[in-house]
Amino acid sequence: MREARLSHNENPFGFPKDILMKVAREIEGDYVARYTKAPTHELKESLVRYVKETSRADFINEDWITVTPGADGGISLLMMLRPQRVVIFPPTYYFYYTLSKAHELNVHDPPLIGDLRVPNVELKEGDMVFLPNPNNPTGHHFSFDEIERLLSSPATVVIDEAYFEFSWVTSVNLLRDFSNLVVIRTFSKAFAFAGQRFGYIIANPEMIRKVNSKRNPYNIPSLVMKLAQEILRRRDVFLGKIKEIEMERKKLEEELKAMGLKPFPSQTNFLYFKVGNADEIKNELEKRHVFVRVLWGGIRVSVGKREENEMFLQALKEVLKI
Ligand SMILES: Cc1ncc(COP(=O)(O)O)c(C=O)c1O
Repeated sequence: MREARLSHNENPFGFPKDILMKVAREIEGDYVARYTKAPTHELKESLVRYVKETSRADFINEDWITVTPGADGGISLLMMLRPQRVVIFPPTYYFYYTLSKAHELNVHDPPLIGDLRVPNVELKEGDMVFLPNPNNPTGHHFSFDEIERLLSSPATVVIDEAYFEFSWVTSVNLLRDFSNLVVIRTFSKAFAFAGQRFGYIIANPEMIRKVNSKRNPYNIPSLVMKLAQEILRRRDVFLGKIKEIEMERKKLEEELKAMGLKPFPSQTNFLYFKVGNADEIKNELEKRHVFVRVLWGGIRVSVGKREENEMFLQALKEVLKI
């Protein structure tokens, strides 16, 4: 059965088989049978190199990085530091609510204002702010002014750069001046690795030590770390595909506009648009084997392969009777 799974912002191109096979050939059974060692020096060094290559943060070294089971694993570890309040600005990444609940934390969630800007809020010591940049679900960027305003408070400010490879805008450079900044990243999106759970945190060494004190030392499978190392070595293969996703996003955006819809400008691998009866539309799309997410009264659709995007557009036209 043909279907278009455009609900989780995954990489539509899948993981390259040759990279999987290379790693499988290189390891012995014993490697899988033994407990994971801490992230290897080699893996951390590769992450440091990648971070430096894509920023101006030449002060970063291994002490500034730790690895996590996906970005969600990073968010969970940060929440284990037990902030007095989690501060988020909806519409935002919905999982901040889910994880705050799981960790029994108080949430303060004043909405974005005007043209989706961060509201003026009084932040206190003990607050932990989570801001996805680019934002999910709106796909837009916050300005450095907005981010620096948050950082000038006593709160810990977590900038979630899950979609960094689609925007190439990073707050990593600000780590030099702001000790309350934490940046989280993932291999789930650009690196087609969502099912394997790999991400990393970049922060000052003291914060990294605090996070590591909450980390189960075996929390990343050894095979996942081996693959992550190979992904970094072959990063051009993955990063080369991003142009294709961006081209597809442009086409999808134009076609939605031609249908009279208003997708928000996006710096990610998804588009978001408001509609009156989003839940109903989602259910009708599902009957046609097209899967999207409804968030804050709008529809978020991941950019898929051309045939998936066409299947979505065709189904949407049918549902909206265009
Ligand atoms: C803003 C944001 N942060 C974190 C994540 C979670 O990523 P991971 O798969 O690495 O846990 C997502 C996934 O959709 C996301 O959109």
